[in-house]
Amino acid sequence: MAPLILLVDDDPSITASLALLLKQAGYRSVSAASPAQALVWLAKEHCDLVLQDMNFSRQTTGEEGLELLRAIKAGHPQLPVILMTAWGSIELAVRGVKAGAADFVTKPWTNEQLVQAVKTTLSLATTQTGQSGVLTREELDRRWEFRNLIGRDPQLLRILEVAGRVSATDASVLITGESGTGKDEVAAAIVRNSQRRAGPFIRVNLGGIAAALFESEMFGHVKGAFTDAHQDRQGRFELAHGGTIFLDEIGDLGLSCQVKLLRVLQDRTFEVLGSSRTQVVDLRVISATNRNLPELVEKGEFREDLLYRLNLISLHLSPLRERREDVPLLAHHFAQQLGQVYRRGNLEVSEAALHWLQDLTWPGNIRQLRQVIERAVLMSSAGALQRADLELAMEMQPEERSRAQLPTPGTMTLDQMEERMIRQCLTHYGGNLTRVAEALGLSRAALYRRLEKYGIEL
Ligand SMILES: Nc1ncnc2c1ncn2[C@@H]1O[C@H](COP(=O)(O)OP(=O)(O)O)[C@@H](O)[C@H]1O
Ligand SMILES: [Mg+2]
Repeated sequence: MAPLILLVDDDPSITASLALLLKQAGYRSVSAASPAQALVWLAKEHCDLVLQDMNFSRQTTGEEGLELLRAIKAGHPQLPVILMTAWGSIELAVRGVKAGAADFVTKPWTNEQLVQAVKTTLSLATTQTGQSGVLTREELDRRWEFRNLIGRDPQLLRILEVAGRVSATDASVLITGESGTGKDEVAAAIVRNSQRRAGPFIRVNLGGIAAALFESEMFGHVKGAFTDAHQDRQGRFELAHGGTIFLDEIGDLGLSCQVKLLRVLQDRTFEVLGSSRTQVVDLRVISATNRNLPELVEKGEFREDLLYRLNLISLHLSPLRERREDVPLLAHHFAQQLGQVYRRGNLEVSEAALHWLQDLTWPGNIRQLRQVIERAVLMSSAGALQRADLELAMEMQPEERSRAQLPTPGTMTLDQMEERMIRQCLTHYGGNLTRVAEALGLSRAALYRRLEKYGIEL
């Protein structure tokens, strides 16, 4: 039978139009005109979801709505409740979510958003996301496609299970974790396992968009909307229509842009810059950040209401140093994969090398591990990667690290640096001038000239 939804609102025109909308979407509904009536009904009957207003005629502070929510959650902890709040009272909705509401929609609602919220909440209620941690790696792989996500760490398996279960819904997912822990990969896996897999998947790096360009980038613009708008441009949200938008580095978004983002996430509508037409989009939102959003909320740098919009489901990927057991699996996987890419055939990693890798701290997480293996694959020649190959690959630090090791600007001239580097190489290669010249990228003659210039004696 179709799911039954209890509508609670003291305005009969609202319950009537909601009932019609829900019927068209394939649901059954009943209405209650007051909190008391709703509680009486719930004491006797069963429903699958409650859609309740927050403001009843007695007061407009929303306290009555919160009281009703608390009473429902107390009597029926498993029953999902969606709140309806006025647009201006969003902090009330946030309090509601903290008190156990599954979601909230703002009045006036858009039909698409409301139906999507109902559908998502109902499907989440039946997917038992709270029960994760019960499936083995093999069971996960039978149910879903997680081929690109290697690992057997219990925390990772729990994440994959939740990701699998929610992939079928339209629930917004927030993925957190240090850089290189696999946030992009998990986002892609959710999409791959969803009904939206055939739709567009638009990835936006919000950390890389200047505030001034945010609206035009995200919502698009029409020709002439501003001086440089020489032609119409589609925004990212429009491009993602029918599919998924991946908002990466969301913690780096400035407050002024956060407000603009909130609105489209809230009711799935936006206006193209320079046009007064309101567009409605159908999309699923996945976001990611390596920052601690609750901490940013505390500091006033991130909107709490936006956080609750994003994190209906939140997945935290732990750093690689906290899942060392997975290091050998990942190393083996990358050696095989990159061995193929660079035509090195079936490339193995020696036992000793795996042990050595497992003991490192991996500040760059899985991304760093992959880079080290890649460098080792390129530089080694034997049939298996040895510890020495990996040590060498590790020493050749990526740019970031070597940049950090340069002296502070203003403390040294180029000449002084050159002299130090030459002396260091001389010590390192035991005075072997051929190798020193090679390491410095100089001809032997050029090296001699410099030795003379700096008065370096051999
Ligand atoms: N569990 C995993 N198994 C295999 N490869 C992974 C896994 N997690 C991440 N990777 C790889 O590590 C690199 C960094 O992952 P990415 O998802 O971009 O991290 P983040 O977005 O958190 O910075 C990518 O090459 C990705 O394919
Ligand atoms: Mg990423």
